[in-house]
Amino acid sequence: MRTLTKILLASISVAFLAVKWTAPSFDAESLTGARVLVTGASTGIGEQMAYQYARFGAQIVITARRENVLQQVAEKCLSLGAQKALYIAADMGSKSDPEKVINFALEKLGGLDYLVLNHIGPSPFSMWEGDVEHIRWLMKVNFFSYVQMAWKALDSLEQSKGSLVIVSSLLGKMPSPFVAPYTSTKFALNGFFGALRHELSMKKSNVSISVCTLGLIDTDSAMDKVRGVTNVPAYPAADAALNIIITGATRQPELFYPWFTHIVNLSKDWFPSITSHIIQNSYKYSP
Ligand SMILES: NC(=O)c1ccc[n+]([C@@H]2O[C@H](COP(=O)([O-])OP(=O)(O)OC[C@H]3O[C@@H](n4cnc5c(N)ncnc54)[C@H](OP(=O)(O)O)[C@@H]3O)[C@@H](O)[C@H]2O)c1
Repeated sequence: MRTLTKILLASISVAFLAVKWTAPSFDAESLTGARVLVTGASTGIGEQMAYQYARFGAQIVITARRENVLQQVAEKCLSLGAQKALYIAADMGSKSDPEKVINFALEKLGGLDYLVLNHIGPSPFSMWEGDVEHIRWLMKVNFFSYVQMAWKALDSLEQSKGSLVIVSSLLGKMPSPFVAPYTSTKFALNGFFGALRHELSMKKSNVSISVCTLGLIDTDSAMDKVRGVTNVPAYPAADAALNIIITGATRQPELFYPWFTHIVNLSKDWFPSITSHIIQNSYKYSP
């Protein structure tokens, strides 16, 4: 059994490396002057994406709720080399703000080449105790606003041969304890944008969709939740951000970051009971 497992893991690794080596190469200059909207860009991975796009000389619109923080991020983007860095405060839990943000970006940038949907609303890291209202609200922020913004930007992306970049999570492919509301919203994203990718391809659309599956990343909000609870390694937000940007720029349908999240994802279907055991034992919990 152990030998079989080793052979399977080796085969998966070889297949993974083969895919990596044949991936299209990234042309940094393709991002110079690119018109980009990044959501959830006041902090965390979104903030790091704003800085990375800035270094490539892109024209950026950033959004989140805290206007004063957005202003500081936009100023830093300009100092790093962004051709433009504009911001608009918006609450993605509102019915109208998602469209307002797209309209702002289309007007200020004259169109969009990249729509990077990244924001998430805060959600507790705890056993689910029946708070249905929280899930309803989180779905609005983490899922419905993504759908609404993608639809509103689609014509412009079609004209520019642009890309939709969706920041998702390993928890959108593999359920895990303590994050039932969050996991639900990420599964919804994977389902919706996976289906939309098929439909755009069948319609011979110019728009690419990249869904990015991330493992644990060292942002303040994530580390505050898991500190002392798990020993799962956290990866740097700046590197995650760069990998997401490259995935969008090279129009790849999927990113798994760090790389082993791909193998973890496959293992849940191939070895379900071992995977469940590992997941449940990777958290400190006593009832
Ligand atoms: N960090 C990880 O371990 C990890 C792992 C897997 C996947 N991911 C994914 O990576 C993405 C970024 O994660 P992160 O850790 O960087 O998150 P984060 O640090 O918590 O940042 C969340 C961003 O969303 C904004 N936001 C929150 N509520 C909002 C609302 N109602 N309307 C508009 N904006 C709102 C926040 O800014 P304001 O407070 O100013 O609104 C902030 O800019 C998410 O999609 C997440 O699911 C992260």
